[in-house]
Amino acid sequence: MAMIAKQCPDVSVHVVDLNQDRINSWNSEELPIYEPGLDSVVREARGRNLRFSTQVDHAIQEADMIFISVNTPTKSFGMGAGRAANLEYIEKCARQIARVSQGPKIVVEKSTLPVRTAEAVKRILATAGAASFDVLSNPEFLAEGTAVQDLLSPDRVLIGGESQTAISALVDIYAKWIPKDRILTTNLWSSELSKLSANAFLAQRVSSINAISALCEATGADVDEVARAIGTDSRIGPNFLKASVGFGGSCFQKDILNLVYLCEHFGLNEVADYWSQVVAINDYQKRRFAQKIVRTLFNTVSDKKICMWGWAFKKDTNDTRESAAIYICRDLLIERAQVEIYDPRVSEEQIRQDMYEIMQDGNGLVGPYKQSLIDRIRVVEDPHQAADSAHAITVMTEWDEFKDLDFCRIFEDMVKPAFVFDGRNILCREKLSQIGFEVHSIGKTSPLLI
Ligand code: UDX
Repeated sequence: MAMIAKQCPDVSVHVVDLNQDRINSWNSEELPIYEPGLDSVVREARGRNLRFSTQVDHAIQEADMIFISVNTPTKSFGMGAGRAANLEYIEKCARQIARVSQGPKIVVEKSTLPVRTAEAVKRILATAGAASFDVLSNPEFLAEGTAVQDLLSPDRVLIGGESQTAISALVDIYAKWIPKDRILTTNLWSSELSKLSANAFLAQRVSSINAISALCEATGADVDEVARAIGTDSRIGPNFLKASVGFGGSCFQKDILNLVYLCEHFGLNEVADYWSQVVAINDYQKRRFAQKIVRTLFNTVSDKKICMWGWAFKKDTNDTRESAAIYICRDLLIERAQVEIYDPRVSEEQIRQDMYEIMQDGNGLVGPYKQSLIDRIRVVEDPHQAADSAHAITVMTEWDEFKDLDFCRIFEDMVKPAFVFDGRNILCREKLSQIGFEVHSIGKTSPLLI
């Protein structure tokens, strides 16, 4: 919305939320999320044609077009728990729009939704007496960390709908800065399904290369070399082939589980099984990484200090949703390790909250024992401090600053043998090995086997 306001000074954009604290942050100098370049976009438009408030009813009444951008997390209860999307917030929005609106409006689904949700939104809106509505689907394809650039110059914008007049109204907004041939229009269902499918395809590439990384470690091939060789085939392309400790983020897992649930609903069990494997490989990759640490450290990490560099699910964001670090940390705590964490952008409060949530289910952990495990975490403000007296360093997020640290000093301060487990393949193996580290990377033969 900030980008629309920036690029279209003649369009008045009013962002509303029920959460007063969050709105206060959007109105302050300290925005509630870290995203490179976003500050200046907001600063340029705020007070001109971009407003943030909690006046939801008022904003609905004055708007010609309403974007529903609430979250649709995976359901944690009842039917479809763990897979289906929780549509409670979407429905509440639709009902509020229906109740408050007095004139005709275009309602745009911006949240990622299961296919045919627009149908439900339309039926709820139809219950409104005074107003008429057109519903459009306009899924968002930006990635965190590069959001501003992705919005300024997207590969494509997708608009699905039935009413040509409504579609044209939204096309006209994007056309202010995006070439028309990059604005695709489809029917509602194609648009909704394209978002889920695009995320499933992207995640599938990461799981594919991660599956190959396990085979590389077993055979002596190098996954980065294999990825380069694969990626130069123009039919495949080089992007999204970086082997890692596992993909995270708010979208990939959620959208695939949603897709799987949808396939099962339509009785397409083979298709559901096919996409489930993308998530299964991702879980395997995270588990495999934690197991490798324990096995390499002579089959026990009990009371050993393990340093974690990075907590965010990727660099240049403070978002930690589904970050691999959370799962690796959980597995290490269950093995009774002491984990010392450093991330340049994630707060200690967030890290503790993530651990509290992940320790809540399964694992047979009960109250005081669970707390005693979480108490084994320390969050520090310096990467050297995190590594001081550690048995092993683990790289969880590919922050650039980790590449150029003083590794001689770090080596001196660590317990020997000093292990490095690079979950992002960003550190120079040769340089670290020369200093004396034993380096384990993803998809590369372990140094002991060379
Ligand atoms: C993703 C989609 O890219 C975006 O189009 C959609 O709108 C939302 O979901 P995002 O989750 O922000 O965006 O980040 P993305 O760059 O796609 O990375 C997702 C995860 O995959 C991260 O944990 C990242 O580290 C991991 N990844 C990505 C890899 O492990 N290897 C790769 O080659 C690429």
